[in-house]
Amino acid sequence: MSLFSAHSLYKSFGGIGAVQGVSLSVEPGEMLALIGPNGAGKSTCFAMLGGQIEPDMGEVRLNGVALHGGPVSFAHAGIGRSFQISKTFASMSVGENVQTALLAAQRQLWRLRSAADAQVKAEAICLLDRVGLAALADHDAATLAYGDTKRLELAITLAATPRVLLLDEPTAGMAQRERRAAMELVASLAQDGIAVIFTEHDMQAVFSFAHRILVMDRGILMAEGTPAEIAANPMVQNVYLGTV
Ligand SMILES: Nc1ncnc2c1ncn2[C@@H]1O[C@H](COP(=O)(O)OP(=O)(O)O)[C@@H](O)[C@H]1O
Ligand SMILES: [Mg+2]
Repeated sequence: MSLFSAHSLYKSFGGIGAVQGVSLSVEPGEMLALIGPNGAGKSTCFAMLGGQIEPDMGEVRLNGVALHGGPVSFAHAGIGRSFQISKTFASMSVGENVQTALLAAQRQLWRLRSAADAQVKAEAICLLDRVGLAALADHDAATLAYGDTKRLELAITLAATPRVLLLDEPTAGMAQRERRAAMELVASLAQDGIAVIFTEHDMQAVFSFAHRILVMDRGILMAEGTPAEIAANPMVQNVYLGTV
């Protein structure tokens, strides 16, 4: 049984099949890339994997158990998805952001703990250290450079101790050098045992970091394999790589 899997997911928008029968699975420590041309259905797939969109048909399972109930339930089950920090969060310090995320993740202790709690602070520093931001803990989140904001978003996601991480274009908007560092960070999280599923336009990032690649085209999975297999697949070259 796989850690995390999707079984025959379907989703249409106004009669147009954005995702038509996608199945996939991922194991702890694995980095799975989902690639394909614009409009292939990658983001729609992600939204179903994260519970934001309910599939028309099919289901998502964690350890063989079907997940239901939307993104909050999925998050509590252990599905992490990076989100953009809101304006409110941008007005707090980097450390306070992570402390707030930790308190939210440990809801049962909400009334007994506060952000001033020394242990919460220590846990936050630990997470910031994990993403390379410990030195900026006291800075306003709003002043962070773009790449560091992404790292903070990742630390906030990690506060909920996810077993699966869904990253839709984690390096979008980054400069080449930042991209490599960001992917190295994600790879180190996988090495710690998190299962990572990511979409990415940067083929260098995909082929350097994915253990396995799924290729989508017009809502359908049209190829699956190791980076070497996908690079050598003439159908992929034709249908996908030929279109970018
Ligand atoms: N909320 C939506 N409403 C209507 N159509 C949508 C919506 N989201 C996605 N689509 C359509 O579904 C298809 C797949 O989109 P998407 O999942 O965003 O692809 P990708 O992420 O691979 O670019 C596209 O044709 C897109 O226009
Ligand atoms: Mg997309």
